[in-house]
Amino acid sequence: MEGRALGRVTASRAPGLAEGDLVLHRAGWRTHALVTPGGRGTRPVPAYEGVPLTAHLSILGGTGLTAYVALTRTLEFRAGQDLFVSAAAGGVGTAVGRIARLLGAGRLIGSAGTPAKVARLTAELGFDYHDGPVGELLAQAAPDGIDAYVDNVGGDHLEGAISALREHGRIAWVGAISQYHSAHEPPAAPRNLFDIVEKSLRLEGVLVRNHPDAQRELDALVVPRLRGGLVAPDVTVVDGFERTVDGFLGMLRGENTGKMLIRIAD
Ligand SMILES: NC(=O)c1ccc[n+]([C@@H]2O[C@H](COP(=O)([O-])OP(=O)(O)OC[C@H]3O[C@@H](n4cnc5c(N)ncnc54)[C@H](OP(=O)(O)O)[C@@H]3O)[C@@H](O)[C@H]2O)c1
Repeated sequence: MEGRALGRVTASRAPGLAEGDLVLHRAGWRTHALVTPGGRGTRPVPAYEGVPLTAHLSILGGTGLTAYVALTRTLEFRAGQDLFVSAAAGGVGTAVGRIARLLGAGRLIGSAGTPAKVARLTAELGFDYHDGPVGELLAQAAPDGIDAYVDNVGGDHLEGAISALREHGRIAWVGAISQYHSAHEPPAAPRNLFDIVEKSLRLEGVLVRNHPDAQRELDALVVPRLRGGLVAPDVTVVDGFERTVDGFLGMLRGENTGKMLIRIAD
C-alpha cells in the first residue's frame, strides 16, 4: 500500500547516503525498503535542528505540502480572508488551519466529527458535522459568508461551502473522504453546482505530487515557527507495524487527530 515513510539507512552503496542517515520515501507499508536517491520519492531528511521528526511526515511532509499548495497556489489565499476547511482536525485539515493562520487568515472555520475534536480546534470556530445539516451549521458559523474553502470531504460539505461562499470565492478540492466508501454510487450532494456560475466561483482540484517545487517555501515558512514553538506537528501515533491496517482504518473512521502515523521503531 502507498504511504510515506521515514526510515534510517542500514546499508548503502549510494554516494550521499550513509548508514545512519534519515530518509523519506514512498515505498509503501513495509519494515525495510530498497530505494535509490530520488527513486520512489526518496530524499534525505533535512537536518533541521530542534524540529521533531514527526514534522517530516505531517506539517513538513506531503500533508503539509498539500495544505500549503491548496492555500497559496490554488486559492491564492490572502491575509484577512475568511476560510472554511473540512476534516479540520485531520492531517491536511490541521495543517491548513496552522498555515492559514501564519498567512494572516481572517475567520477560520473548521468541521470535525466529534465534540472533542471541535473543542481542540475551537480557539477558532468549528462545528461537529454530526450535529445537523452541514450547510445550516456552516451558515450559523459564518453568517456573513466565506472567501475560500479547502475541501477534504466532498458531498454535503462541498454543497454547504458552495452556499456559504461569497461572489468570486474559491474552492481548493483536495479530497472527498465522505465518498471513498461508495465510489460506485453517485454522490447525493452537491446539488447546487450551478451556484458556481451564479456566484462566479472557482473550483480547482489539487494534487500534491504536481508541486514538489513548493517544498522549500513551505520549509522556510514553517521550520522557524516549529523551532520557536509557535507551530507543533499534529499527529496521532499508533505503535507497531502489525497495527498498520488498524491505523489506516482508524483514520478512515476518524480516530486520528492530525496526521495518523505508525511507529515501527524508535
Ligand atoms: N489531493 C492530494 O494531493 C491529497 C494529498 C493528501 C491527502 N488528500 C486528501 O485529503 C483528505 C485528508 O487526508 P488526510 O490524510 O489528512 O486524512 P485525515 O484528514 O487525517 O483523516 C481523515 C479524516 O476524515 C474525516 N472523515 C472520515 N469520514 C468522513 C465523512 N464521511 N465525512 C466527513 N469527514 C470524514 C475523519 O475525521 P472526523 O472525525 O472529523 O470525521 C478522519 O479523521 C483526504 O480526502 C485525502 O484523500 C489529498
